[in-house]
Amino acid sequence: MTPESHSATGTDDLSVSPPPGCPAHNNLGPGGLHRLYGPEAQDLGALYEKLRTEHGAVAPVLLHDDVPMWVVLGHAENLHMVRSPSQFTRDSRIWRPLLEGMVKPDHPLMPHIAWQPICSHAEGDEHLRLRGAVTGALTTIDFRGLRRHITRYTQILVNRFCEAGEADLVSQYADHLPMAVMCEILGMPDEYGDRIVHAARDMLKGTETAIASNQYIVDALGRLAAKRRAHPEEDFTSHLVTHPAGLTDDEVREHLRVVLIAAYEATANLLANVLRTVLTDPRFRAQLNGGQMTVPEAVEQSLWDEPPFSAVFAYFAKQETELGGQRIHKGDGLLFAPAPGNVDPRVRPDLTANMQGNRSHLAFGGGPHECPGQDIGRAIADIGVDALLMRLPDVELDCDEEDLNWSESISSRHLVELPVRFDPKPPQDVMEKPGLQTVPRQRSTWQVSTPAPESAPLPEASPEQAATATAAPQQPAPAAEPAITRRLGVWKRFLRWWRGY
Ligand code: HEM
Repeated sequence: MTPESHSATGTDDLSVSPPPGCPAHNNLGPGGLHRLYGPEAQDLGALYEKLRTEHGAVAPVLLHDDVPMWVVLGHAENLHMVRSPSQFTRDSRIWRPLLEGMVKPDHPLMPHIAWQPICSHAEGDEHLRLRGAVTGALTTIDFRGLRRHITRYTQILVNRFCEAGEADLVSQYADHLPMAVMCEILGMPDEYGDRIVHAARDMLKGTETAIASNQYIVDALGRLAAKRRAHPEEDFTSHLVTHPAGLTDDEVREHLRVVLIAAYEATANLLANVLRTVLTDPRFRAQLNGGQMTVPEAVEQSLWDEPPFSAVFAYFAKQETELGGQRIHKGDGLLFAPAPGNVDPRVRPDLTANMQGNRSHLAFGGGPHECPGQDIGRAIADIGVDALLMRLPDVELDCDEEDLNWSESISSRHLVELPVRFDPKPPQDVMEKPGLQTVPRQRSTWQVSTPAPESAPLPEASPEQAATATAAPQQPAPAAEPAITRRLGVWKRFLRWWRGY
């Protein structure tokens, strides 16, 4: 895909772009295309809406170094793409700009897009093998034990600041809870602590110490994998190591890393977003206190409004095809984009409408790569918010809402701080450490504040169906199957890209 190929589709109506001479042209790249980086991308939400107006559901854009890419803005089009493995793959080895040498080895996206032997990049039988090992290990988790673990860590974390009467719920709570829980799940509870949380944050922020932080985490995971290979126990890592799929040591370590970091980043974002919503949106607070809005519904609303991964790099066209009225050429790259997809006006004509637990958002993807850890992410957010509100019912924001800051990149938006105040409270006894026993099958439903609705299969939503769902909430999706670079030279560049520098 080249910039020229976009305009050659005949469907990219560039006539609605500013006329030549207009200052807005100054930010456009080759072919008059918008850049998803640089000054215009400071407000990605606004840029996506501009692109939707100019191009419709699928828009041509430019990544760093003006590498061409499509961004999928429509809800139905995003779903169609992820659910059509015969047309679109996550295997970047067919990406034309890469094959044509347009994407240089030091391109900031390379570490993310470069193919790796992990389930996220695999397809067909190899995807089934690798993903089967991950989901097989996830199915052994007993969710009752997991819920007790989450509750216990919420108590430990709240105890650390409850007497102070003030806290930053991002650095003292949302950034910690998912890491504590993921360390338990993986089987390395002793590794949980400030050090690993700081290492993960540091790595994702792309500071000078990011490479060392990444190495710290990789070493911990390597040690864990070797220990469990020698002496399997009853935890996720042991089940991954002993799965009949026969993962190599490298495959085990890389999948532990994918699970730990993806789960940590996404769940920390979700938890912080839901807490912010609960604290700032009077509608939520009133409904929560009045018993009409359950915490799981608040979580689902947040997954619509602020999906923890705003966009995922990337899908690639396996053949000439059409999507959202655009001609997509074999080898073109497409961004799967939950953030603009979730606010597609064909699905949500009124963005202020309460989605009431409707789960047909794109936050967890769909199709063969749909997030297998979604029930764990939801559980951490549900219990994390519920338990905090129980302990600190008078908690309130300790700054003007307008003073809250986010760090934003194409792939995610992270709240920087969430300062709160409350009347000081005494610490509480933390209950005894529960076991994470294994059971044959994972539970499929949850309840935190109120009973969760019965799971029912979610029909593939057409825009019209999904729009109807805004008025009459759909049944929730099935708890999907248990819904849950290393090349150091390029790692730093990836981090810089990841954080949008
Ligand atoms: C709120 C939390 C989470 C969100 C929003 C989230 C979102 C996503 C998304 C959007 C994808 C990719 C879809 C695609 O490639 O098309 C994904 C994949 C994945 N997620 Fe999650 N995730 C979350 C939590 C977790 C957790 C807790 C785990 C593990 C315990 C996990 C494990 C994975 C794995 C292994 C994949 C790759 C699956 C594959 O390619 O087959 N995620 N997630």
